Amino acid sequence: MRILLASSEVVPFSKTGGLADVAAALPKALAQLGHDVSVVVPNYPQVQKQLLGSGPPVTTTGQVISVPVGAHDIQAQVFRSHLPDSRVSVYLIDQPNYFDRATLYGDRHGDFGDNCARFVFFSRAVLELAKSFDRPVDIVHSNDWQTALIPVLLKTDYRDVPEFERTASIFTIHNMAFQGQFWHWDMLLTGLDWKYFNWRQLEFFGNLNLLKAGIVFSDLITTVSPTYAREIQTPEFGYGLHGVLSGRRDDLVGILNGCDTAIWNPRTDPHLPVHYDDTTFPEGKAAAKAALQQRLNLPLRPDLPILGMISRMTSQKGFDLIAESIPQLLRFDAQYVFLGNGDPGYEDLMRRFANDAPEQLSVTIGYDEPLSHLIEAASDIFLMPSQFEPCGLNQMYSLIYGTPPIVRAVGGLADSVVDASPDNLRDGIANGFSFFDYRGDVLVDQVRRALAMRKDSPVWQQLVQTGMQRDWSWRHSANEYRNVYERALWKRMEAPALAHV
Ligand code: ADP
Ligand code: GLC
Repeated sequence: MRILLASSEVVPFSKTGGLADVAAALPKALAQLGHDVSVVVPNYPQVQKQLLGSGPPVTTTGQVISVPVGAHDIQAQVFRSHLPDSRVSVYLIDQPNYFDRATLYGDRHGDFGDNCARFVFFSRAVLELAKSFDRPVDIVHSNDWQTALIPVLLKTDYRDVPEFERTASIFTIHNMAFQGQFWHWDMLLTGLDWKYFNWRQLEFFGNLNLLKAGIVFSDLITTVSPTYAREIQTPEFGYGLHGVLSGRRDDLVGILNGCDTAIWNPRTDPHLPVHYDDTTFPEGKAAAKAALQQRLNLPLRPDLPILGMISRMTSQKGFDLIAESIPQLLRFDAQYVFLGNGDPGYEDLMRRFANDAPEQLSVTIGYDEPLSHLIEAASDIFLMPSQFEPCGLNQMYSLIYGTPPIVRAVGGLADSVVDASPDNLRDGIANGFSFFDYRGDVLVDQVRRALAMRKDSPVWQQLVQTGMQRDWSWRHSANEYRNVYERALWKRMEAPALAHV
């Protein structure tokens, strides 16, 4: 199959969250299954410079694309590179006015005011690029609101383009909380007929809603875990679109993300002082703990457990629970390490906690990839008490690194973490701790429970090894995506005009 994956971010070129990890690791896994896969992203030269270091070279193709955005024709240059250690091509759409900025979607004043124009432009550029390929693509796979217009364009303005006669569209939802909602006049930027601005299609309470558009118009929809696929059909998790999603429940598939095990692997990780596996983890983790305590100026105490957390500092990730619980958590004989950035309110609060208890609590505000690897390895327990979590990658990284996570049983956390209940321990399937009630005292109880279990070393060893021994790679999930692509191609052949639109 010929697959083009469109994303607003991809490692190692750009990243704000898990979408960038997925946009790189899934294509690599699909290429290993024998498919011809390319990725297309905006070119963010400033962001790339911060991230890349000695990354793959980016060269110009000489191709220029012109697309309408509202009343203007906007030009893009097409640059090209590849994903490291793979044959997957990356096309970078270069338009400095839109994308040559220090950040991807907004700054401290909020979202960029021209986000609708930027991503209408990018979505149209993706299709112009695909149209220019020497062979048609079978699948255009778009992700989140930034590329949600692509399935709409394929069914409307690009409907009669011969290159897309058989092309099927897949739309993956990574987070219902971000919908790309804009005022109704931004319909003019899309270039689409106003007839699509109705409550069944692009309109949502008077606004243009790009996420809704993607859900309505794509051939098949996926989201990043089976539990989240069910949750988003309910008012609690659907952010107003639960009805639209249940309307398409037969076309909605939940596939758990995998991990790029070339990057996240304690046997080879260049950021660890000592490599380890599921038998040598006690030595490897002890060396990582010493390195982390030294780096963060925490007392060098090999006997103390470390609880780690790496996350965007937002309410999605449970920072209100963390803030509420910290005074009680500090009563345990343990050290706490937090790495993250996000809402200024949470950043300040976490800094204050660290100032008050510097011997026990370290807070690093910022984005630091090498430190994140060291924290995963050095911690004894990982914290991820998310309010909602479509998939979540860090709990899986922590399982790979022998660091049982404490999670709230929602979304992908529920699909990857098996609670250490007596039954699950007996069956040899437990790998962490999970709770459901979103309350600070419940989180504190779970920490108490995990710390107590850690003292029982054979049980703890079993918990660690169960997590480390499962295959967390993309192999299985890439096969599931392949099945979805095949189903979409069949659907396209059977009903080219698509009855549901
Ligand atoms: P989300 O995409 O909702 O933020 P995920 O768990 O899917 O959550 O992915 C987050 C990704 O970003 C992971 O790869 C994680 O390691 C990384 N990450 C988040 N915050 C930081 C940080 N401050 N420093 C380094 N990596 C981070
Ligand atoms: C989103 C979700 C996260 C998921 C990631 C990649 O950012 O918040 O749970 O892991 O996308 O799919």
